[in-house]
Amino acid sequence: MKLKVIAVNGSARGSAGNTAAAIMVVKKMLERSGDINCSVIHLKDKHVNPCNGCLACKEKNECIQDDDMNGIYRMAQDADAIILASPTYFSNVTSRMQMFIERCGILARANGDTLKGKLGASITVARRAGENFVYAALNYFFGIAQMPIVTSSYWNNILAGAPGETKDDEEGIEVLKQLGKNLEAILRKLNK
Ligand SMILES: Cc1cc2nc3c(=O)[nH]c(=O)nc-3n(C[C@H](O)[C@H](O)[C@H](O)COP(=O)(O)O)c2cc1C
Repeated sequence: MKLKVIAVNGSARGSAGNTAAAIMVVKKMLERSGDINCSVIHLKDKHVNPCNGCLACKEKNECIQDDDMNGIYRMAQDADAIILASPTYFSNVTSRMQMFIERCGILARANGDTLKGKLGASITVARRAGENFVYAALNYFFGIAQMPIVTSSYWNNILAGAPGETKDDEEGIEVLKQLGKNLEAILRKLNK
């Protein structure tokens, strides 16, 4: 049976942006042996509202809001690892990613830490600065969800401003490749 990874992309540019390109570097590493599947979810193409704080999801394991979140949450529960990837927007995650974190986080928390034990890995993209705060924000999600965090040889950031610029950050590409290798190795160890 294939191991499943989902990568959630918080970029406003969706599949055309630098965050999508960064995810592709990790996805390629993960999928090179054929027994790991990495599905990419571009939040730009999904309808995800903010959390309304009602906690009606408690013990129901689904949200009462009629948008795409329940579908994404089902994919998250079915996955062996979750990658959260966000561009840096004013030294923070994008609003799309924050909405995902709030919605998915409360669904998992209110229903007995349903994502516990799955691996987590973050990817950040910045034109110039602020990415460490994004890295922390994404990893805080994994921390409270009881998801062990997979790291790389440096903090998992790539420098890119205009679409297509990820290829110019050679060191960033290597860091992401190493992240893919580390995630693959740990997934395999846990699923022997
Ligand atoms: C609203 C907005 C805020 C941004 N804030 C930052 C920032 O604080 N630091 C930075 O280095 N880049 C910042 N950027 C640049 C993006 O992080 C950069 O262009 C990135 O490559 C976008 O990723 P994407 O192509 O996947 O959307 C900002 C871009 C936008 C649109």
